Amino acid sequence: MKNIAVIGAGTMGNGIAHVFAMNGYAVNLIDISQEALDRALSTITRNLDRMVKKERISEEGKAATLSNLSLITDMSKGVEAADLVVEAATERTDLKLKIFADLDAMAPAQAVLATNTSSISITKIAAATKRPEQVIGMHFMNPVPVMKLVEVIRGYATSDATTEAVMALSKKLGKAPVEVNDYPGFVANRILMPMINEAIYSLYEGVAGVEEIDTVMKLGMAHPMGPLQLADFIGLDVCLSILEVLHNGFGNPKYAPCPLLVNMVTAGMKGVKSGEGFYSYS
Ligand code: CAA
Repeated sequence: MKNIAVIGAGTMGNGIAHVFAMNGYAVNLIDISQEALDRALSTITRNLDRMVKKERISEEGKAATLSNLSLITDMSKGVEAADLVVEAATERTDLKLKIFADLDAMAPAQAVLATNTSSISITKIAAATKRPEQVIGMHFMNPVPVMKLVEVIRGYATSDATTEAVMALSKKLGKAPVEVNDYPGFVANRILMPMINEAIYSLYEGVAGVEEIDTVMKLGMAHPMGPLQLADFIGLDVCLSILEVLHNGFGNPKYAPCPLLVNMVTAGMKGVKSGEGFYSYS
């Protein structure tokens, strides 16, 4: 696999494009919005500058990474020569099904179609294509250039060959891939989101305050961020939608989102990206 197309230039898409380009792959970063592409390029450049300053990469390494990147608004052009497409668009089922049906028509027949979804069924996304054996989950963690994990999710019809190719490729990116099966929340969010939800319940029930809850988990369990800070970082709307997938998928009340989380999202408090969450960022 040499030619990579990344769909979506948001936080995850620009991180994924950054990592592939830094490892020598030709990357087409695709978004319908030129403005989003320009913002992604300036984020990638800023993150590369930080790596140069810390002597993780050289100025030449930075220049080579940027020269591997092309910004494209036309999806059919961007994927026409792709060996692998990684979709990192907005987390909406209808949108992903449409993108995968389009990708199936536009990308070369042998191309693998991966999705960075954090919780939508890979099997369902694969069923929007005529090549479900070549559809797979490639779930990167935020911030992508820093986090080692790639959760590689096999849909019900994903082939061994596709899985092996994506596991090998993830290792070439310097990541540690872990293979899991396609059930709601996969592994990462099935375990992470109930912990975050329980932290929100602890706040809602008045067990302790925001900073106290986060301090317990940071200093007591050596987590780099407390669960409430992490929820703000991920996005409270994203946390809510993943909890809803778990709740609907398993029908078990233990996954029901805390009413405080529902209220905060309804009121527009989405964490870092909206400026307000459990902490204030303005
Ligand atoms: N891009 C590139 N590099 C970055 C970066 C970014 N966006 N953000 C931070 N870094 C680098 C810094 O340059 C620094 O590098 P060095 O080690 O070379 O010094 C390193 O990361 C640490 O950064 P800082 O010193 O600025 O800050 P920190 O020590 O507080 O770490 C953090 C920041 C890495 C984000 C850390 O707080 C952390 O690991 N938090 C938890 C992150 C996490 O759990 N992510 C998973 C979220 S869940 C998810 O993504 C999936 C989902 O489906 C919801």
